[in-house]
Amino acid sequence: MRIPFIAGNWKMNLTLSEAESFVKVVRNHLPVSETLETAIAASPLFLPSMVKLSKGSPLKIAAQNCFYKDAGAYTGEVSPLSLKDVGVSYVILGHSERRRYFHESNKMINLKALSVLKNGMSPIIGCDEKMSKIKSNNHMKWLDNPVSEALRNVKAEDMSRVMIAYEPSWAIGTGRAATKEEAEDGCYLIRTTISELYSPKVADQVRILYGGSVSHKNVADLMACPNIDGVLAGKASLNPDNFLKLLNYKK
Ligand code: G3H
Repeated sequence: MRIPFIAGNWKMNLTLSEAESFVKVVRNHLPVSETLETAIAASPLFLPSMVKLSKGSPLKIAAQNCFYKDAGAYTGEVSPLSLKDVGVSYVILGHSERRRYFHESNKMINLKALSVLKNGMSPIIGCDEKMSKIKSNNHMKWLDNPVSEALRNVKAEDMSRVMIAYEPSWAIGTGRAATKEEAEDGCYLIRTTISELYSPKVADQVRILYGGSVSHKNVADLMACPNIDGVLAGKASLNPDNFLKLLNYKK
């Protein structure tokens, strides 16, 4: 059974004191993690404090990126070993903004995913819109398959820790979310790809998320889709009240 997952990705927003008060507000209002897993992806500067403040609550803390080496002469990079050391649970990799502004390749994202798994954390691999509808049968197909490249050498037994986030770039930060049909089509294609790469059993364990202008208005419809196991919210996660509204999508 795939436990639904809702994560906020703060991107390069908030100050340390805003981040700390956010956790203090939400930590006592979260659903139990057996029914819904929740996480916030914050700046690496905030992570130790956020892990400390969320201890004992179901809120998990995520990083927004990391490097693929544990240590060495890599000025400015964040080590996956140090993320594990401070108690980070998930690491977003290959977000569309990292691909666009920092030229991250699928190969690099693959190395990072292997490293995050080796360090006992879960990667959330961002998958930008690289698919299009085949007009004849109305199904989606890849134009360039980021999923198989990002998963190269990832063992089947590690796949239950992997999440893939389908985030069409035209929906990110635009206020124009994919419709539930568009989002489901993308997530279905991702699950089919995993099934072909591994097996239907493995594909059935992997959580696939949708991201792009998610709000309290569309979250319930998205979460109801059979292949959407969760959402990655940017803007709608910056404020504790809005984040809690997302988590309470069933009400
Ligand atoms: O990681 C989150 C996505 O980029 C979505 O951001 O909800 O602000 O569109 P957004």
